[in-house]
Amino acid sequence: MRTIKTIEGTYDVLPGREGGNPMLRVEAWQRIEEVIRGVMRRFAFEEIRTPVLEKTELITRSIGALTDIVHKEMFSFRRGKTDYVLRPELTAPVMRAYLQHHMGSRGGVRRLFYMGACFRAERPQKGRFRQFHQFGAEIIGTDDARADAEIIGLLAAVYDAFGIDDVSLRVNTLGDPGARPRYVEALRRYLEPLESELSDTSKERLRSNPLRILDTKSVREKELLAGAPRLIDFVGQRSIEFWSRVKGYLDDLEITYTEDPFLVRGLDYYTHTAFELESPHIGAQSALAGGGRYDLLAREIGGKSDVPSVGFAAGIERLFLALEAQEAILPGTQPLDVFLVAQGQEAMRRVLRLGMDLRVAGLRASFDLDGRSMKAQMRAAHRARARHVIIVGEEELDRGCVQVKDMETGDQFGLSFDSLAAYFLGV
Ligand code: HAM
Repeated sequence: MRTIKTIEGTYDVLPGREGGNPMLRVEAWQRIEEVIRGVMRRFAFEEIRTPVLEKTELITRSIGALTDIVHKEMFSFRRGKTDYVLRPELTAPVMRAYLQHHMGSRGGVRRLFYMGACFRAERPQKGRFRQFHQFGAEIIGTDDARADAEIIGLLAAVYDAFGIDDVSLRVNTLGDPGARPRYVEALRRYLEPLESELSDTSKERLRSNPLRILDTKSVREKELLAGAPRLIDFVGQRSIEFWSRVKGYLDDLEITYTEDPFLVRGLDYYTHTAFELESPHIGAQSALAGGGRYDLLAREIGGKSDVPSVGFAAGIERLFLALEAQEAILPGTQPLDVFLVAQGQEAMRRVLRLGMDLRVAGLRASFDLDGRSMKAQMRAAHRARARHVIIVGEEELDRGCVQVKDMETGDQFGLSFDSLAAYFLGV
């Protein structure tokens, strides 16, 4: 029988793997998560965790039935009478949780963050997976333009904390929802005479969702779009004023950005602010993060009133690529405080107890479970980069003591069982 491997577009993250791709090393993930959590804590964002599994309806109603995600990238299935989906993102689930648990009932704004796996049935390539991981943040319950700037400032602070500075931030306003249908019509009218020059995908989008054509990577299509109508010209006066406030606050925070009138994002729930953070060093999938304002999402999923909100999400795999591009060193295996080596049956039994005691007392300790020779156990201690080795031999056992070897200095000396804790923990 063939051995079963991971599904294409997914991967295992293993412990103790030195060198190679840090994305496949659990210690590197732990470090990345720690840095992200540290920044979120400083910004006073609270963590929220929602299920990986949601009702399909939540995603179709929020992200939009005509988007790529819903149209062709959902991992969904039916069980009994319910349609389930593996979440492709977390903004809709977080809003669902906010409404379900009346998180706004005590008044005030909620600042939330999350980290977790998402699923999209895309064609896997560099920086694009079927199970990928996002971290993100949402400010829920305010239409204050300062929140838009705060969210973008938070996003910038995370990449700053990793020392990633070669990034570009593109921003745009999608305006009020009333503007969009009129703009879509204008764009369609502009593109229809040019249809024969469009790619097959864009031809299809011209009918289903013309806004998506603005995202094109094709140079020819970009040229064709140069004279296209711009969304900003369809947006009402209040939206323009809101947009100037957002930009003013971004200037206050000294955040550098470029305005891109064709930035529309691939999810339907946005209104007003939209943005994307890109890196020139991570290949064709250059978006590190994206986000924006989604004032009407709450109603789309059954909320009784509007809940104005703004947020971002970022791909952790792409963060790894950006770190790799600047040759950042991510931590490898953590060294052990102590490795216990046993010689003989009785010593093996003693090592179990001693090892457990040292762990409970707060040391990082390990020992062999394979019944290997002393030499093999010493090799394992080296591999684990143990700072000390405790050798429990038959002779020592009779005398109620052990040999301790300091692996840095090479010094070796005897200690009684009773004085072990005092030696290692200074008690
Ligand atoms: P999104 O642009 O669809 O936005 O995804 C955010 C980020 O997730 C992308 O910029 C990218 O780094 C990463 N990403 C997306 N798909 C993949 C994939 N297949 N493989 C690897 N990484 C991927 C959202 O998800 C919105 N919920 C953002 C948001 C939050 N808007 C408001 N609040």
